[in-house]
Amino acid sequence: MKASDIRHTFLKFFESKGHTIVSSSPVIPGDDPTLLFTNAGMNQFKDVFLGFDKRAYTRATTSQKCIRAGGKHNDLDNVGYTARHHTFFEMLGNFSFGDYFKHDAIQYAWELLTVHFKLPTEKLWVTVYAEDDEAYEIWNKVVGVPAERIVRIGDNKGGRYMSDNFWMMGDTGPCGPCTEIFFDHGEGIPGGPPGSPDEDGDRYIEIWNNVFMQFNRTEDGVMHRLPKPSVDTGMGLERITAVLQHVHGNYEIDLFVALLAAAKSAVEASGGQDIDPASPSLKVIADHIRACSFTITDGVIPGNEGRGYVLRRIARRAIRHGYKLGARKPFFHLIVAELVTQMGEAYPELRAAQARVTEVLKQEEERFFLTIQHGMEILEGALAGGAKTVDGETAFKLHDTYGFPVDLTADVCRERGVTVDQAGFESAMNRQREQARAAGKFKMAAGLEYSGTPTTFHGYEHLVCETAKVVAVYVDGSPVASADAGDDAVIVLDHTPFYAESGGQAGDSGELRNASSRVLVEDTIKIQADVFGHHGRVVEGSVKVGDVYTARVDAERRSRTVRNHSATHLMHKALREVLGAHVQQKGSLVNAERTRFDFAHNAPMSDDEVRRVEAIVNAEILANAAAAAQVMALDDAQKSGAMMLFGEKYGETVRVLTIGSSKELCGGTHVGRTGDIGLFKIVAESGVAAGIRRVEAVTGDNALAYLQGLERTVNDVASALKAAVPEVPARIAGLQDQIRALEKELGALKGKLASSQGDGLVAQAIDIKGLKVLAATLEGADAATLRATMDQLKNKLKSAAIVLAAVDGGKVQLAAGVTADATAKVKAGELVNFVAQQVGGKGGGKPDLAMAGGTDASKLDGALASVQGWVAERV
Ligand code: ALA
Repeated sequence: MKASDIRHTFLKFFESKGHTIVSSSPVIPGDDPTLLFTNAGMNQFKDVFLGFDKRAYTRATTSQKCIRAGGKHNDLDNVGYTARHHTFFEMLGNFSFGDYFKHDAIQYAWELLTVHFKLPTEKLWVTVYAEDDEAYEIWNKVVGVPAERIVRIGDNKGGRYMSDNFWMMGDTGPCGPCTEIFFDHGEGIPGGPPGSPDEDGDRYIEIWNNVFMQFNRTEDGVMHRLPKPSVDTGMGLERITAVLQHVHGNYEIDLFVALLAAAKSAVEASGGQDIDPASPSLKVIADHIRACSFTITDGVIPGNEGRGYVLRRIARRAIRHGYKLGARKPFFHLIVAELVTQMGEAYPELRAAQARVTEVLKQEEERFFLTIQHGMEILEGALAGGAKTVDGETAFKLHDTYGFPVDLTADVCRERGVTVDQAGFESAMNRQREQARAAGKFKMAAGLEYSGTPTTFHGYEHLVCETAKVVAVYVDGSPVASADAGDDAVIVLDHTPFYAESGGQAGDSGELRNASSRVLVEDTIKIQADVFGHHGRVVEGSVKVGDVYTARVDAERRSRTVRNHSATHLMHKALREVLGAHVQQKGSLVNAERTRFDFAHNAPMSDDEVRRVEAIVNAEILANAAAAAQVMALDDAQKSGAMMLFGEKYGETVRVLTIGSSKELCGGTHVGRTGDIGLFKIVAESGVAAGIRRVEAVTGDNALAYLQGLERTVNDVASALKAAVPEVPARIAGLQDQIRALEKELGALKGKLASSQGDGLVAQAIDIKGLKVLAATLEGADAATLRATMDQLKNKLKSAAIVLAAVDGGKVQLAAGVTADATAKVKAGELVNFVAQQVGGKGGGKPDLAMAGGTDASKLDGALASVQGWVAERV
């Protein structure tokens, strides 16, 4: 049976038992910030188990794409070194949502394995959670598994419910006791049954886990009973395939045989030779191409944080293993085609994304090959003397200066039996973090000591606060009792309408004023999460702790910032609409001038795409919908479909900003209605890193000013051309035609001029033993003219050695030519070099024609005069 037949048989079996076949969900869990990647078949049903979501069915079966690299279930470091670890694998599962429970689940599993897959019953072992007598009885009494092949496993992982037979999705979420089915691969393989001291051997392999979902574990560690007991099972397709194909390791099944062959030929096509087909590196590559391709298919792009970082780590690990096998140029992306052949039918989204996946991987490879080559040279240097340890400083330097990841250093060292000084590396790393922190403090004046009342922010509703009391004052980074006129100070207020820089939005400016003093606030920055520092200059009187001020935000500047911020939300939504759901925010900066938005996308935006985004945003502006902010529980925000950034830490309650058709978590300040934005215009689109684009845009009066500026430029151009604006393009095209015609004419004239000079030069040639020798300068010639004239002169002089020179702006261009009869004695390459050296250059070429350049025109005459003597010595 092929892997694809096994997948099919599984799904059809459960369909015949009343289950609905449901497609795999993406490897990126939809809006579940608790999960890095989909790590089990049950993820897409989490809310159904919890009773938050209802489906049309109570029984489902899936073949789910899973990734276990990063997060609670992480297998990355084992891949390649064991028979059955993967970063990506397919999990076959059947699910009951309050429908059947232990009896049916156990009996279905047994029927599929023993009747349909025909596994011999004596090869199957089972484990149950120690306290689960019910499951034990079903196995023993109903199914008839003898007691000696049923193992009870209790809390064996250091805490209540911490057990191989108690399954949890993560630190929180649905969980419950489970029963696992093991296959005995036979006496020839070392290892003991589950629960025995040598259970980690390869003989008894878990093939299927049946979880009896009964609890929801919340963050406080409390187990809440689920509304209805349910079933969640998971069987690794690769493992059951190995059993059914009578092979021992997952890498021997049909699917992997094909991928390993593709990996081998890709590495060979890129420089690898004599590759051992059993090399662990090939396994790493064959495994990692699946994880990388499926994550890219589902919208991740290699990056430096969150999922992008995990993807980058996996891709780079594969590339490094290819390098180890001898690949010296990108090879990894070449394997995508075979993967699509193998898995494109079961997962059509992979086939649809083939070109994009290939391109993203190729770009990542090109970048990393440069890094790796450089890093390996340095590491080889460090290992050259037979050292047994790589010191922490070297590992850190590789990481910090050369971008060579420390896990790769560790990998290379492990293979050579060398250790890496991890402690030294960590301390170098900490030192750098400290320095970065210190630098940040210096620049931002953040990190000021403060332990008083927090600041209450009124700036969502008001721009003025008349009773803002000073609770701290700092000058030069230290707390002071008062600051005087002329001082640059940071002032903390108990209440403020000033927005402090955060979430990409710049801090407010404005003024603090009372009867005796005035402060111009230039910026507002958070000293702590809820302590706002007003940075500014005291311009009148002095500011003391306890003083009360009227704090007034610069309303004009705030409005501009707010317009840009609201437009950013609409733009983010529009970008996803136009470019695709893989567009994810990677950074943003919003101030009074413009908005700058970085996002994951792999190609420059076309003019048409830019225009479509502008059109969508401006249509939202014209619709003039009211914006609304609502504070709600994080869970509710998630359920409402609000966009949230992965890797961001959100509190229990969050602020959801709805504006037009966009709904995003945001603590920033916004317009009242979309119409307040006025006008939205994208002014720049560029790349900031591989796979990251940057769009800059302006709104309101900034947009008007931008368009007026463009109009002025166009008008200036038109008036210089003496044309009306609409005629400008045609006029420029006409001028370009004219220039081309003139250039052609000029070329012809230069040729004529040169050949007339050439005629004159024939007479200047000197005869040395039958060879005509000529060295001369051609006025106004370029390289092409020198060559053309050289040909003419050779024809006319028949047997000759010639040097021609031209001078252009102090630079010398040289050509040397020797007729075929004389090249045995006089070589044009040597001749031109002899002359070039005298004018500060060098050159060379063929024996009959050679070109060179020089930089010192003042020496040219002397150099040309030396030609005769040089030739004379050789004939
Ligand atoms: N969710 C269970 C597992 O992943 C079936 O093992």
